[in-house]
Amino acid sequence: MKIGIIGLGYVGLTLAMAAAARGAEVFGTEINPQIKKSLAENRAIFFEPKLDELIAKHNHKNFHCVNELPPPNVHSFDAFIITVGTPLYPNSIKPNLEAISAAVKSLLPAYDGSQVVIIRSTVSVGTTRKTVLPLLSKLIGKREEELFVSMCPERTIEGKALQELKTLPQIISGNNQKAADMARRVFEKISPRVIEAKTLEEAELAKLYCNTYRDINFSVGNAFCLAAQMFGVDGMSVINLANEGYSRSKISRPGFVAGPCLEKDAYILTDNMPDCASKNLILGARKISESLEDLVVEWVKRHVGAATKPLVLSGMAFKGRPETSDLRGSSAVNIARKLFAAGYSLRLHDFVASVKDLEALQLGEAFEDLSAACKDAAALLVLNNHERYENFLLPESSLPVFDAWQVCKKIDSAFTLGNILLEEGE
Ligand SMILES: NC(=O)c1ccc[n+]([C@@H]2O[C@H](COP(=O)([O-])OP(=O)(O)OC[C@H]3O[C@@H](n4cnc5c(N)ncnc54)[C@H](O)[C@@H]3O)[C@@H](O)[C@H]2O)c1
Repeated sequence: MKIGIIGLGYVGLTLAMAAAARGAEVFGTEINPQIKKSLAENRAIFFEPKLDELIAKHNHKNFHCVNELPPPNVHSFDAFIITVGTPLYPNSIKPNLEAISAAVKSLLPAYDGSQVVIIRSTVSVGTTRKTVLPLLSKLIGKREEELFVSMCPERTIEGKALQELKTLPQIISGNNQKAADMARRVFEKISPRVIEAKTLEEAELAKLYCNTYRDINFSVGNAFCLAAQMFGVDGMSVINLANEGYSRSKISRPGFVAGPCLEKDAYILTDNMPDCASKNLILGARKISESLEDLVVEWVKRHVGAATKPLVLSGMAFKGRPETSDLRGSSAVNIARKLFAAGYSLRLHDFVASVKDLEALQLGEAFEDLSAACKDAAALLVLNNHERYENFLLPESSLPVFDAWQVCKKIDSAFTLGNILLEEGE
């Protein structure tokens, strides 16, 4: 099995290693020079458990990061998998799918129409059939019916990607049965279970549903949490009460709903959806979770005022469990940007993201040690749920703390998302 992967970011590199570990020969291309450099040094530029070990094992053996995929007379590929990013345009809710078309074009000269081209990136419904297939047809001068395209979405979560690639059912699809069968061969190599979608669109939608379902569920927790405070009731406390011993209530704990996927997938789903009540529900849920960021900024203005000392923002990665170094789409980073724009001086800390990555944000000084960051500060804002906060002790007990997720077990009197709108903390 010979696979070409376009894009060696989180999805491409973990998939490449999962396939290489199962004995496939994998060629990957990447346009980011930093990623190519780190791969030459046998490591990923991001943290993912066990990934660096696999890179060291397979790099230059059955995994090759190449500038261009080799032509068919040198290597004959079974499949190409496109894993490039599909972010939103800046300050917009419109997905930018330009990288997909560029990646498709980059398949030449390795592509001759006989291989299956698999879209793994998250795309708007219809992209595989209406953008990818006609583009391939134009590129090599064959009719669409003669070609093989497939949409096989990625559904792993960062921090458990390699583990989940081996356990999650893989959704496959095809523009015809042969394409679906070709995709099946690829994913049967990696995963114990493959499920076939009836159409390309069904596969595209299933992926968007998985993330939007999570998004809406988390937003319900946030909506209930904020609503409780309209009645003067702590939002976290009432959600715990409603869930306690009552299996029909599984209301999410309030928290930021963020990261490179959840920040955008509801918008990708609704991108080309006609206006309707379903669309309102999906977008309304997103808005509720996004509104938490402004509430934190308002909390700082109310409780810290115009600080002359720096604010400490800790937990900058978009989530703490499972831990990740990923700062993309992080609500903590958005909050930092808003506070920075409002004139606050900031100190940034994270248990996993590196000082170098935090400094690259250019929003304040980055600290390795949280206690050191808290010295002589105006307040501490704990913005993700990393388990190391549970035992964290404040160096100065008088420091005001906003503990968004209520994870600091050793700190009393903290404000949380559950009481962010109330006048006094618990
Ligand atoms: N990160 C996740 O956990 C996750 C999970 C499920 C789905 N997804 C989806 O998968 C896609 C990729 O996500 P990601 O987090 O891996 O993004 P990423 O930005 O980490 O990786 C994409 C990589 O593709 C590279 N690239 C772009 N154009 C290229 C080209 N023409 N040739 C070669 N390389 C190119 C980029 O430089 C980048 O390194 C997105 O659509 C995302 O929504 C991500």
